[in-house]
This record gives sequence, structure tokens and C-alpha cells, in this order.
Amino acid sequence: MTSDPTIPPVQAPAPAPRPARAVRPGPAPARESLDAAERMGRAELEALQLERLRRTLRRAYDNVAHYRRAFDEAGVVPEDCRSLADLARFPFTTKADLRENYPFGMFAVPMSEVRRLHASSGTTGRPTVVGYTEDDLSVWAGLMARSIRAAGGRPGHKVHVSYGYGLFTGGLGAHYGAERAGCTVIPASGGMTARQVQLIQDFRPEVIMVTPSYMLTLLDEFERQGVDPRTSSLELGVFGAEPWTEEMRREIEERAGLHAVDIYGLSEVMGPGVAQECVEAKDGLHIWEDHFYPEVVDPITGEVLPDGEEGELVFTSLTKQALPVVRYRTRDLTRLLPGTARPAFRRMEKVTGRCDDMIILRGVNVFPTQVEEILLRVPGVAPHFQIRLARRGRMDHMTVRVEARPGTGPEQREAAAAAIARGVKDGVGVTVDVDVVDPETLERSVGKIRRVVDERGR
Ligand code: DLL
Repeated sequence: MTSDPTIPPVQAPAPAPRPARAVRPGPAPARESLDAAERMGRAELEALQLERLRRTLRRAYDNVAHYRRAFDEAGVVPEDCRSLADLARFPFTTKADLRENYPFGMFAVPMSEVRRLHASSGTTGRPTVVGYTEDDLSVWAGLMARSIRAAGGRPGHKVHVSYGYGLFTGGLGAHYGAERAGCTVIPASGGMTARQVQLIQDFRPEVIMVTPSYMLTLLDEFERQGVDPRTSSLELGVFGAEPWTEEMRREIEERAGLHAVDIYGLSEVMGPGVAQECVEAKDGLHIWEDHFYPEVVDPITGEVLPDGEEGELVFTSLTKQALPVVRYRTRDLTRLLPGTARPAFRRMEKVTGRCDDMIILRGVNVFPTQVEEILLRVPGVAPHFQIRLARRGRMDHMTVRVEARPGTGPEQREAAAAAIARGVKDGVGVTVDVDVVDPETLERSVGKIRRVVDERGR
């Protein structure tokens, strides 16, 4: 409930949730502009996958001490992989394996062949370091170009890249992909928000690539400068690097007047461009399966789950040279679905969250995306929110802090808080407090947003 003591407790009826609107499809690319692999049939693709998979297992076993040891311990050799299903006999690789081999122990090529390094931020322990040969960088640029085309980008478009440049893979990954796609790149990186808006106004890009949370920061800045973002030149947004919901898509599309599509990736597997949503369908992300073989496993038992069942996403790289990964546990939760706009490539559903982001509150699993989904349906509140976890006595307690939209009066705030609390109770099954705070009071994102502030340990 709002903490403003001047507001009397009211039993206002909960505002009706906004009705779900159908997604507006964007323009499909011409068939001739697709890569040969995008036009393959499933059988042809699977034959290619098996051949590449066997080569990757051999490369890993021959060149990386960790894999040789892990395969030996599991009693398998690369030749045991005679079908795609045989991959399940091979051991998993985890982030801990990469950390233990810090910095270059998992590389399968001599350092002289490594052209670039990236690294994760390493907020929890040692960073993970990833390396790329010249061929790896070329494949990455090609897959990012494919992703940009699937998002609706065309040669001649200007692409404003607000993903951070540096050790994070977002900025440089998007950059080289946009160049390969025949676009003009504006390498803005993250931060200096007022200047970014100015650049968008002056350079008139058609495409923006940015985290969804930083897009919200940019939209607020447009409005602060008195510019309606819908009048900007932007037509397409390629948003990823953090979980975001269908409700957030609707919010951004309406406020910015563009098509918003999802891009997925992770440094260990390559960076952005492992999977991409097609703008003509907006129905989940096609995994570029000619380069990455996906599995979904039970996060506890590690058992491979059939397509359609939700679990932890696991990837095996099929063409990477410097850092082949075998059954890498992403910690991301999703499910595999059949291909649509690119029929041979399976889709992954939008990522609900990471196993690591899951809050267990009094025995109930809660993901920040569930809260996002609920609060964005409630009128009067902005999409800026934060989840605080505290300990009261022996009980864990969760407070959702969400900003009011400008001009939302006390009664409407109170009603919104009640509606969110009820939505979380009904939809997720836990009781939470909701604070509807003043506009512009919560921390803004310039990259990946931190949704959860955990004060339980202090
Ligand atoms: O975030 C790569 C990337 C950059 C992807 C730009 C898309 C756009 P990492 O920093 O290694 O790499 O973080 C990878 O971010 O395991 C997911 O948990 C999360 N993530 C990435 N894309 C999405 C997405 C980049 N579209 C981790 N939806 C992954 C949900 C995502 N989560």
C-alpha cells in the first residue's frame, strides 16, 4: 500500500485489467534475402547439425583438458554421438567450469588465433572470459545480421546501438552485425541519455538496439524534452539481454510507435544473436540451429525434456572454434516450440527468468517477470518497478515498489496498489506489499536492470 499517511485507506474497486491486444505484425523479409540455412528443410538442417556436432565434440575432446577429463569420467568418446539424441550421454558444462578454468583454460585454439576477448561482469566471483577466432567473429557478425534482418532491418537503415560497448557482448555484437547487414551504425553505447535522444532526433535512425529497461529510460527522456517519441524516426526496436514480457512489448510499442522484437544470447555461447524473434510473427525467438543445438532439461535432474515442456535451456555450439561449449547450462527457463516464420528452426518461448532470479517466498516461486506482467495491466502505474526482499522476524517479506504515472492521484494510486497486490496473490499465490511511489523516484537502467534488492542477509 502507498506509504503516504495523508491518504485514507479506501476500498476502491480494483481497476479492470487492460484487455490484451493482438500483436501488430511487421514486414516479412523477401525470401531471396534469407540465408541459405534459413530456407533449409528440417531433415537437411538436422543432417548438418549432426555433422557439426560430431566435429565440435572431437575439437573439444582433443584440445580442451576440461572436456577430455569430463568425457573420460562420463565414459564417452566423441564417436559415441551417432545421432542428435546421443548428445544426452555427454556431460553438462556450467559457468563454474568456465570460472575454474579462468581465464583461458577452456580455449581450444592457441592464443595467437584468438582475435577478441569478452567477459561477463563478474559481480559474483571471477568473471567468465570468452574468446573468438577470426572465423568465430565472422560467424557472429553473420548471425547478428540475420537477426537484424529477421527483426525487420534492411540495408540502408541506420541502427542506433545503445547496448554497452566494452567487455559486454551487446554493443560490439550488435555493431558488427548491423554493418554486415548493410546498415549504418550509430555506436552510442549506454548512458548519456539526453544526448542519445538528441542523436536519435538528428540522425533519424530506423532501428534501435537496446535493453528494454534502458528503452524505457530513453522514452522518459524523450517526454522530458517535450518530444513525443512516436514522432521519432524509429520503426524497429531489437530488445534483449534481460527478461521482458508481452505486456512490456505492448507498453513500448504503444509509447514509441515501433515494432518491438526480442533478441537472445549469452556470452558463453556467443553473445547476442543466438536466437531472434521474427517481426512478421512476434511469436517467440527462432534459435539459429545451424550454429547452436538447443536442449531443454529438468533443472534439478538434468533429464532432457520433450519439446513444449518448460525447463532449463542448454546449448551446444556447432561451429565455434576458440570456445566450443558442450551442453552449456544457461540457467534460463523456457520451452522449445516448432518453427513458424523460419520453419526449420525451432523457437524458444520468451525467457521467463533465470533459475538464479527465482525468488522463493515462503515456499512459493516468484519471478520478477510475473510481477511485471501483472502491474503493467493496471492503469495509473508506470513500468518502472523494483522488488525488495526483507526479513521480518523469521518471515521473508516482499515489497513491490512501482512508480505512479505522472498525474495519478492518491485514490487511483491506492486502487492500483490494491489491484497489484490482488493480482500477485491470485496469479502467483503470495501476499506482497505494494508501494506506489512518486514518478522518477526509482533508479533508472542504463543497461541490464537489477529488479531485485535483497536485504534479507543484512
Ligand atoms: O546479455 C548478450 C545479449 C546482449 C543478448 C544484447 C541480447 C542483447 P550476457 O551478459 O552473457 O549476454 O548475459 C546472458 O542474459 O543467460 C539471460 O539470462 C539474459 N538474456 C539475454 N537475452 C535475453 C532475452 C548478453 N532476450 C544472459 N530475454 C542470459 C531474457 C535474456 N533474458
